[in-house]
Amino acid sequence: MEKQMVKQIELDWSKGKIINDEFFPEDKLGRVKYATFLTKLLASQGFDKSRDDVDQKRNYVLNLNSEWGAGKTYFLKRWSEDIKDYYPVVYVDAWKKDYSDDPLMTVISSIIEQLRKQAGKDKESPEFKVPRKLIGLLKAAAPGIGRGLFKRYVGIDPVMIMNADDDNESLGEISTDENGKPIDMSFAASEAVKYLIDEHDAKSAAIESLKKSVFEWVGAVVSLKKKELPAFIFIDELDRCRPSYAVEMLETIKHIFDIKGVVFVIATDTEQLQHAVKAVYGEGFNANMYLGRFFNSRYSLKSPNLENFLEVHCDVNKLSGDYLRDLNVEVLPFNEDAKITLRNISVVLNAFTVSARTAIQIADRIVATISNMPKGSKVDILMLTILLCIKDKDSNLFDEIVSGEFERHIQNGEKDKLIYLNDFLSNYIPNIYHNSK
Ligand SMILES: Nc1ncnc2c1ncn2[C@@H]1O[C@H](COP(=O)(O)OP(=O)(O)OP(=O)(O)O)[C@@H](O)[C@H]1O
Ligand SMILES: [Mg+2]
Repeated sequence: MEKQMVKQIELDWSKGKIINDEFFPEDKLGRVKYATFLTKLLASQGFDKSRDDVDQKRNYVLNLNSEWGAGKTYFLKRWSEDIKDYYPVVYVDAWKKDYSDDPLMTVISSIIEQLRKQAGKDKESPEFKVPRKLIGLLKAAAPGIGRGLFKRYVGIDPVMIMNADDDNESLGEISTDENGKPIDMSFAASEAVKYLIDEHDAKSAAIESLKKSVFEWVGAVVSLKKKELPAFIFIDELDRCRPSYAVEMLETIKHIFDIKGVVFVIATDTEQLQHAVKAVYGEGFNANMYLGRFFNSRYSLKSPNLENFLEVHCDVNKLSGDYLRDLNVEVLPFNEDAKITLRNISVVLNAFTVSARTAIQIADRIVATISNMPKGSKVDILMLTILLCIKDKDSNLFDEIVSGEFERHIQNGEKDKLIYLNDFLSNYIPNIYHNSK
């Protein structure tokens, strides 16, 4: 039977999963189908045996866009976890690494380190045999560095590496230092890379050899661990970095975007990133067009509706019938199912058109309030939500209401009529809704 062009990988996110000590709940936003789709799309873009020989491997850069808190990180982490059994996979958190002044160094060192681990060449295994691919890797790094310096940084004479036989599976003779101590070749390689980047004159040569290094490491993972091409490199939280860094990062990593057989997924909140670009290039700058140039395509994850959004962000269980009975607190209107209560709360939040962040804060406050009520008490959840929304929109009005000093009059013909809070609110809510539209 003809081998299928792109393997169909089944992704299953119907259950929660712990990834690197972090818990990811079941997929409540129906995202898994997008990961399945994009895997297929990117896999076939990055590598296709049916294309001409020289064209089988391609590079591809996808921009995954969605708003704050809509689930980019969840999506990338679960996605990358699931496909790493099949492809070389790298996940880079640009924000976490925003300590370095050199974005390229940051990304590449992270990429190389992760690929090295996937190739099974952990820091813990210093005396591993140097596979053929690694010789290529070191060869790529060697010419950029003077012989003496290379030896100092890497601990190996570059001439020895250059002369090493490509087909030699092990580099036994040179993977030990003068004292016969084994050398951590992987560390050595990354040191070489580090040195290359420091060297300003050699910058573009360095970029070339870095690309080659990534290419070689990808090859090492594929051949040593029986993975397939392309390699997936995910870069997350770019827009969370300070503006100049985010822009610099994008402009630098674009240099490595064109490694054949590697596909990049760059997650951004495009709106946010455009602000970053404008902070660097000025308000009048066409940030959208500028960003478009970096990517082969852009793909947006739809923001969930408020109810689903709150479900993934808040401790919804604390609104369930069971929980409330245990607590001995009565809420009105009562619903066994926490989701229905959440939906009611969302209706109010929507009416007040609060931002996503505020919605989370208010929902958290509602849950906290309920949890701290004395046993046996009752609380009108919708009124509570309304009050918290008013507090957010108009704290004077809120103070008036909770201090019992609320008083409004309307002119009714000749007479001055006192109106009650509920009448006031039934006008007030549609009004603010209208005004903020
Ligand atoms: N599909 C999903 N199913 C269930 N929970 C999800 C899903 N997507 C995201 N979440 C949860 O929603 C919260 C926010 O998601 P996440 O951190 O991925 O958002 P983000 O878009 O990366 O946000 P930021 O803009 O802050 O980086 C997390 O607690 C996450 O576990
Ligand atoms: Mg995130």
